Amino acid sequence: MSEINSNSPDVLPEVAEFLGSAHHALIGAQWKMASDGRMRDVCNPANGDVIATVAECGPAEVDAAVKAASASFKAKVWRGTSVSERTQVLLRFADLIERDAEMFAQIDVLDNGMPIWLARMIIASGIEGLRYAAMIAATLTDENFSAATSSADRRLHAYSATQPIGVAALIIPWNGPAASFLVKAAPALAAGCSCIVKPAELTPLSALLLGKLALEAGVPEGVLNIVTGDGKVVGNALVEHPLVDKVSFTGSTVIGKEIARRAADRLKRVTLELGGKSPTIVFDDADLELAIPGAAMAVFANSGQMCIAGSRLFVQRKVFDKVVAGIGQVAGSLKIGNGMDPNNQLGPVISAQQRDRIAAIVAEGQEQGAEIVCGGGSPSGNGFFVEPTVVVGADKDSSLIREEIFGPVIAAIPFDDLDDVIPQANDSRYGLAAGVFTTDVNKAHIVADELEAGNVWVNCYGVTHPMVPFGGFKESGWGREFGVDGLQSYRESKSVVVQLHGS
Ligand code: NAI
Ligand code: MG
Repeated sequence: MSEINSNSPDVLPEVAEFLGSAHHALIGAQWKMASDGRMRDVCNPANGDVIATVAECGPAEVDAAVKAASASFKAKVWRGTSVSERTQVLLRFADLIERDAEMFAQIDVLDNGMPIWLARMIIASGIEGLRYAAMIAATLTDENFSAATSSADRRLHAYSATQPIGVAALIIPWNGPAASFLVKAAPALAAGCSCIVKPAELTPLSALLLGKLALEAGVPEGVLNIVTGDGKVVGNALVEHPLVDKVSFTGSTVIGKEIARRAADRLKRVTLELGGKSPTIVFDDADLELAIPGAAMAVFANSGQMCIAGSRLFVQRKVFDKVVAGIGQVAGSLKIGNGMDPNNQLGPVISAQQRDRIAAIVAEGQEQGAEIVCGGGSPSGNGFFVEPTVVVGADKDSSLIREEIFGPVIAAIPFDDLDDVIPQANDSRYGLAAGVFTTDVNKAHIVADELEAGNVWVNCYGVTHPMVPFGGFKESGWGREFGVDGLQSYRESKSVVVQLHGS
């Protein structure tokens, strides 16, 4: 197998300076070390180098951060300001992130391994999402029911309005660090909540820079806190803290369920954006020039580390061999290596553990009859690289077909017709996303209607927009992010009925 050149090309001087600086938790407006002084090494998955050390916080820091958030909420330093003031601060925050966008892109490449083109794209989408959330907050209006509630003998004025839920714990994953932070923090802040962000322990760096810029933009003390540290330690302490009113989590379905169980004790509001085993369906009438690269990048982008990864590929029998061969060609042509090198299209996966987990799923699948069309290996070198892999003939009950792999692995399955493919596509405990490639508009709409998935893409894949709700059916989660739904998930509805006296 090929050797990967995983040397880092030069980074911006301000990125080097940032990496070398102290990385502590943001509590109130202060940067605080962990009370026991513990730090955690942060590594670059492209070469295994330690690039920074970050405070390893525990329950004491969580408690301090939650109390700071709660105090700011009670004091109304943020929710008590006008929507236009909050919008202005958040738009300023977006401008500052944009000013430092290249810094963010490089930090996420070094921390997560993703290729620079992708890091640039996702920070841009994070900024766009922040701007949308800031602006739609101003459009939330109350509902009035005066005419509907009144009768001949009783005159009422009734209205329903929403208020910020309170203190929100935002637990984010490592597969798109800066963007994931903004996907949750933007609506939480725009809704008027005070929050605590827990970045993933594998990729905490861009979150800390975002915290610094939020303060610079004028987000008041205590409204945005950041606690770095272990998922279980910091995560559990946040979910169980009595002053946390809402938890929003993105990550594995296993941890999502655990969070739901812990949060149930106090019936905390919970939004969960979890795993997927999304189908991509290619009909024989599809434009294959579009479908082949579309289906390939639906799973290979970000080395498959996307909740929406289209990891089950259903291809209508007539074009099966052609599509599989085409996807194999795309896989073989993708340049793998250090994400800082702009020539590379795929970076490493996040950790040695994830690389080995992916390899184990593929090996087990082979034992159960799957055949590798291309890829299947882990190139040598210090980084955690996985070759883009295409398999056929996987057993329908193997992990290749059932489990979220979170790696660049696609399992191709032939089908006969629409009636054959729909039940197969829906035969999953997940229901996050799906892709359909066809030139038949009628068929596209029927398939979109039949699929058990929160997001369906037709003749494209993975296209998201801050105004379009995003989330999953079944075990892919609870609730929706983005758009008005996403914003409302940080608000609580209150109905007020007033009996009017006199004529
Ligand atoms: P994970 O679900 O354990 O970790 C994701 C995040 O959850 C991290 O920030 C971690 O710090 C946090 N976390 C862990 N335990 C927690 C707890 N008890 N309470 C609160 N937060 C907690 O996932 P992991 O182990 O990193 O990856 C395993 C698999 O999870 C992946 O192979 C993939 O299938 C899935 N995953 C899915 C993601 C998505 O975007 N849907 C993102 C990350 C992982
Ligand atoms: Mg890292």
